Amino acid sequence: MCGIVGYIGSEQAVPILIDSLKTLEYRGYDSAGVTVYNGKLETYKVAGRIMELEKVLPIDTPGNVGIGHTRWATHGKPETRNAHPHLSSNVSVVHNGIIENYMVLKERLIGLGYEFKSDTDTEVIAHLLHFNMNHDGGKHLLDGLTETIKELEGSYAIAAMCEEEPDIIAFARKDSPLVIGIGKGSNYAASDVTAFLKHTREVIFISDNEVGLLRSDSFEIFDLNGNSVSRDIEIIEWNLEAAEKAGYEHFMLKEIHEQPTSIRNTFAGKLSEIEGTVTLDELYLQPEEVKRLKRATIIACGTSWNAGILGKYLFEKLAGIHTDIETASEFRYSNPILCGEELTIAITQSGETADTLAAVRSSTSYGCRSIAITNVVGSTITRESDSVLYTRAGPEIGVAATKTFTAQLLVLYMLAINLGRTRGVISAAEAKDLIAGIKRLPGQIQKVLDRKDAINECAIQFADKRDYFFIGRYLNYPVALEGALKLKEISYIHAEGYAAGELKHGPLALITDETPVVAIATKGHTYEKILSNIKEVKARNATVIAVANDDDTEIEKYVDVVIRVPSSHELLAPVLSSVALQLLSYYTALARDCSIDKPRNLAKSVTVE
Ligand code: AGP
Repeated sequence: MCGIVGYIGSEQAVPILIDSLKTLEYRGYDSAGVTVYNGKLETYKVAGRIMELEKVLPIDTPGNVGIGHTRWATHGKPETRNAHPHLSSNVSVVHNGIIENYMVLKERLIGLGYEFKSDTDTEVIAHLLHFNMNHDGGKHLLDGLTETIKELEGSYAIAAMCEEEPDIIAFARKDSPLVIGIGKGSNYAASDVTAFLKHTREVIFISDNEVGLLRSDSFEIFDLNGNSVSRDIEIIEWNLEAAEKAGYEHFMLKEIHEQPTSIRNTFAGKLSEIEGTVTLDELYLQPEEVKRLKRATIIACGTSWNAGILGKYLFEKLAGIHTDIETASEFRYSNPILCGEELTIAITQSGETADTLAAVRSSTSYGCRSIAITNVVGSTITRESDSVLYTRAGPEIGVAATKTFTAQLLVLYMLAINLGRTRGVISAAEAKDLIAGIKRLPGQIQKVLDRKDAINECAIQFADKRDYFFIGRYLNYPVALEGALKLKEISYIHAEGYAAGELKHGPLALITDETPVVAIATKGHTYEKILSNIKEVKARNATVIAVANDDDTEIEKYVDVVIRVPSSHELLAPVLSSVALQLLSYYTALARDCSIDKPRNLAKSVTVE
């Protein structure tokens, strides 16, 4: 997804902008560009990686103010002319988001004599800004930008410069993340804080329909009526080391290995084993409201949606709440039947997924109470939900979600126990048992990680296969879905996740001796059922890799390879199996020499519909 950066201060802007753009690479991009003020606006852009940009942009270019961008194509191919910044005479603009009425604006601007050089929606912003600054006696950059965004429909985070006002960067935001960093004698703008964390931890998250400007030693924020907006500065605790690879070959592997710690952080201070309670201070639901709840709807995309399926099972089993799980991109188009007494739970690690935000807004319009489960403090979802439960997994750079997924599972366990205790569905003894199990998870995850060599061997053995199946039942069904999603995302092997009982209703036709089947077969009340499903695929000559418990002495009789995970509380086994499957995907992608941290066509944060 696109990334914006801006710098104004006493230092040379280009090295800072390039460095900041590199920290945003994880968001996924296909082209990059920079405008720097060097007596006039100088713009350099390329289709391709930032290293290509560095080849055309002299690092010693003078100038203390500039804006930069990494683009992920939405309108127009990834070509240099479509890369940002976009120019209109003396104005330069970078933009994240989508301008929905750009065709109408483009026709109008062409009629006014503007010449378009790109296929992008963004170029209309540059020309409209230039027009608004010049047509009516002349306006300053900030006033021109304010007028411009009033005419835009869609989503945007914008940073803009103008040759006549080289001592400011103007910015604006609606439905696309934008944060400013407050330094000493320097200020920054970016799509997310990692871009300038090296320079400052003092930030302000810009809200929708706000505009503002940065000078080297000050900043101002306004609403659309020109009223000054006063905002508190927030201190970001994450430091840059936390976002580095720490010696691992890939961010994904580092993040997989961080899970004992990230899980511990997720539940820190919330569990009482003695009382059998989970305290969620951020949950703004009165006990009476919780007791009255009839239904919950979980809304999410991708990996977060897979976590949501487990959430459904947990809320139904532990809290006795009928729970639906909805794909966010479908939700608002599917005439949801909501009466306002339901609880909406949005799961999104980034907090910026456009489909999830739109679905939450749709459910809120019915008066539903909402909870957001997210990893990103200050992200858009946090401002749109009644309660926010943070996963506290730390920054995740690899496009494939790993530690944020298991942290989401942990939050779902804790929320289900909390609601279940309030509603009297589970006893203190049952809760204590689960809480004790949760506390054992970090050590058990470490045991799975310690077995990575065996998982690597298994991965190498099947790395040349074209198709994979992942099967599981009940709690292991979302594990199968997530295992398949992870494998296809980073290794490009076609992988299907299936509820194992569904195989015989169609997919069995695809099973051959060339199709490895991963069966998640941890002990529990569906164990015998998955053994039957394993026999079904073995009868079709499939090679079966089972994920099974350490104390399972039977499984080896039925399968070809066993990936072992420690025995745990039945409800908690998905966490351990998921870590094992993350490693299987990672090592498969490694054996296939894939771009693991930045898989093709994918973005970390999908902020467009
Ligand atoms: C996960 O590996 C993927 N990158 C993707 O499916 C992701 O989970 C999805 O886009 C949702 O993102 P979110 O959690 O930030 O909303």
